[in-house]
Amino acid sequence: MPSFTVSRAPVIRAEIRVPGDKSISHRAVMLASLSNGVCVIRGFLPGEDCLATVNAFRALGVQIEHPEPTTLVVHGARRRLVAPEGPVACGNSGTTLRLLAGLLAGQPEPFAARLTGDASLSNRPMRRILEPLAAMGARLTAEGSDGRPPLLVEGAPDGLRGIEYVLPVASAQVKSAVLLAGLFAEGRTTVIEITPTRDHTERLLQHYQVPFRAEEIVLEEGQRARRLTVEGGATPESRDFHVPGDLSAAAFWMAAAAAQPGARLLVQDVGLNETRTGLLAVLVRMGAEVREIVGEMGGGERMGAVEIAGTELRGTVVEGAEIANVIDELPIIAVLGALARGETVIRDAAELRVKETDRLAALAAVLSALGATVEEKPDGLVIQGGHALRGAVLPSFGDHRIAMAGAIAGLFADGETTIEGAECIATSYPGFEEALRALAEGARAPGRATTVVPAMPG
Ligand code: S3P
Repeated sequence: MPSFTVSRAPVIRAEIRVPGDKSISHRAVMLASLSNGVCVIRGFLPGEDCLATVNAFRALGVQIEHPEPTTLVVHGARRRLVAPEGPVACGNSGTTLRLLAGLLAGQPEPFAARLTGDASLSNRPMRRILEPLAAMGARLTAEGSDGRPPLLVEGAPDGLRGIEYVLPVASAQVKSAVLLAGLFAEGRTTVIEITPTRDHTERLLQHYQVPFRAEEIVLEEGQRARRLTVEGGATPESRDFHVPGDLSAAAFWMAAAAAQPGARLLVQDVGLNETRTGLLAVLVRMGAEVREIVGEMGGGERMGAVEIAGTELRGTVVEGAEIANVIDELPIIAVLGALARGETVIRDAAELRVKETDRLAALAAVLSALGATVEEKPDGLVIQGGHALRGAVLPSFGDHRIAMAGAIAGLFADGETTIEGAECIATSYPGFEEALRALAEGARAPGRATTVVPAMPG
């Protein structure tokens, strides 16, 4: 099992680019594959999760060229997918499996595809998509225990019909699975979302010219919500697309800089979609200086640069609607909690228990191993920060974000920190270890000029 070792880093002065956004890369491949022509996708994230999506669409008969690591040429199949010959391996990727299940649910009979996952994905809940898709008339069977993968998707005998669905869980994957199924359904499919989650599917549907509407509404109970409606039957128009850098990858460097008094970091070409930038607000509450430099919109997505100036952080509370916005950043926020003075509370985050691993249990274990004071709650963590961390051997739990969060903690710990099972990082951040080395070595170099770190090594 590959592992690597990290030790305390001097003050960071760097300018960094990060690989393409994972959520957007998946969705761009999906809509381009359904489109009516050739689409060039630049800035694609060549991480294992997104490659699983590419291979899935190849297995469904779509021609996808990959001339450079971050460029794809997708020959849209005009919605006409073919039944795959063998199981479709979704690897570790919940986004691949859940969105694909929605997108394939409306294939005309005869059609069958078995969607499988690795050990982690095979343990993740699927009822959240099975229920709305069944209400649309889909024929989906969870072959694992208790509604878990593999999922067998068969052609819907009477086709799909549009529904109106109020999301019972704040999940962009569930929302997207229903909207993508709606593309293949009779009539309109409406999703009502009370807690905002990442809206990349909505933006990409519009970019690919699919009839789609998003409205703000007030529910009978007075709650505000968004009503999202897609019309069935449209073929996405072929469009090129540039994927912005992944804020959830940049989060690790932003956190490292934020917690180092005197550090300065400029992250270039990163996605600044407001359903994803909650971390920046958390960093500001903790005392860091954060400047967003918004550039031009691309393909409906806000993007630009972020500048961070580090300081001695103070604890904060992360809860409620903010949780969905920072859902993938909570591991690194927990590390910041251990570095900050005072108490940091994360609550309303029980969803972390059904991610790539049980992230609340994993974070409690990792932070305790580093000597931090952390209490695990059913829906969160309470961390008493500001005490010195000591280097440790940290398991990754097979979870890329736990491994990367542990590595950043290692930059602040006495002695050496070893991340075991680090190969999982390749699911979302190929080149993470190289970027970490470049930052640390740059900070140690005499003269301490700004270190420039590219999105991908080599
Ligand atoms: C994702 C949505 C989130 C997030 C995941 C990617 C997506 O999951 O945690 O890493 O691309 O839609 P949920 O929708 O399950 O919250």
